[in-house]
Amino acid sequence: MDFLRDADIDPAPLAGKRVAILGYGNQGRAQALNLKDSGIDVVVGLRGASGSTIEAEAAGLTTALVEDAVGPADVVMMLAPDEIHGALYREIEPHLRRGAALGFSHGLSVRFGFVEPRADLDVFLVAPKGPGTALRSLYQEGKGMIALWAVHQDSTGGASGIALAYASAIGSGRAGLIASSFAEEAEADLFNEQAVVWGGVPELLIAGFETLVAGGVSAEVAYLECVGELHLIAELIEARGIAGMGEAISNTAELGALIGGKRIVDAGVRERMAAVLEEVRAGRFAEELRAEEASGYKRLEHARKEARGTLLDETFRRLSEDK
Ligand SMILES: NC(=O)c1ccc[n+]([C@@H]2O[C@H](COP(=O)([O-])OP(=O)(O)OC[C@H]3O[C@@H](n4cnc5c(N)ncnc54)[C@H](OP(=O)(O)O)[C@@H]3O)[C@@H](O)[C@H]2O)c1
Repeated sequence: MDFLRDADIDPAPLAGKRVAILGYGNQGRAQALNLKDSGIDVVVGLRGASGSTIEAEAAGLTTALVEDAVGPADVVMMLAPDEIHGALYREIEPHLRRGAALGFSHGLSVRFGFVEPRADLDVFLVAPKGPGTALRSLYQEGKGMIALWAVHQDSTGGASGIALAYASAIGSGRAGLIASSFAEEAEADLFNEQAVVWGGVPELLIAGFETLVAGGVSAEVAYLECVGELHLIAELIEARGIAGMGEAISNTAELGALIGGKRIVDAGVRERMAAVLEEVRAGRFAEELRAEEASGYKRLEHARKEARGTLLDETFRRLSEDK
């Protein structure tokens, strides 16, 4: 495995270059501020009447309308939501300089054809493995967030150099850069979102909570057992790995986990995980994401409303108020 750190990276490919960050949300804010603090010439490209303009300028950043930011830029980073990358790319393509570099923090929109970059562009991926808030706070602490990097198109011969210098300037070279591809990063990320950390784990917590409540346990106790302990295992795994976590807990918990874990996550779960991976690779999720955006995010809005009305959420709010 290629695992690069700042000492392996030449910052020269970004020296004197202008970087346009499109979007000032979760990743856009963090990446723009980290680049600025690393001495890079950065401009944040925003839509007209964007509420983010005042915020970005208050943070000391230069802002411009999207097309004005893109025109003079050597590097353009697509940090708006993935599902609008296609429309955003069509809007900026006429303004992109020949031989400019187009960067992404997620491989989805290129892997699944939302964006088909012009042949003269360098196209790279720098995907920090975590939210922008942490990318920024780690940078400010003198640390960094691990990132995947890849090149989709190397038109000038300099795409790898730009990608690595960019990753270093947002602080990820302090933690480590892992070589990947747009396809690998996009598929693994979408798989995890659906089957493991963001999809599987919350559903497991909900199912556990509802099982205890149906079995006569109070909502408060069920919540503390099934949801409230999640951060403890996350911290232990982060610090010691999964084997070390097992050794750190009581014999009672360790034996219970040994007997119960594999009974719950059985061969059927693995089969369904394999099906999720296959569907992701076939582009089924990418189609759903497109349709969701086209519908005005109806399904997401409905799900958000429904989740707010559950006993589990009500219990969370009650316990949070008491803290
Ligand atoms: N969120 C994460 O933790 C994370 C982690 C790793 C990688 N990524 C990747 O980073 C990229 C950005 O994700 P994000 O979560 O940071 O997005 P986000 O927070 O949802 O992005 C919001 C920003 O995008 C702007 N925007 C929306 N539509 C636009 C348009 N049509 N034209 C121009 N700007 C537009 C918004 O403008 P206004 O200010 O005008 O509303 C806002 O500044 C994605 O590719 C994502 O997969 C995200």
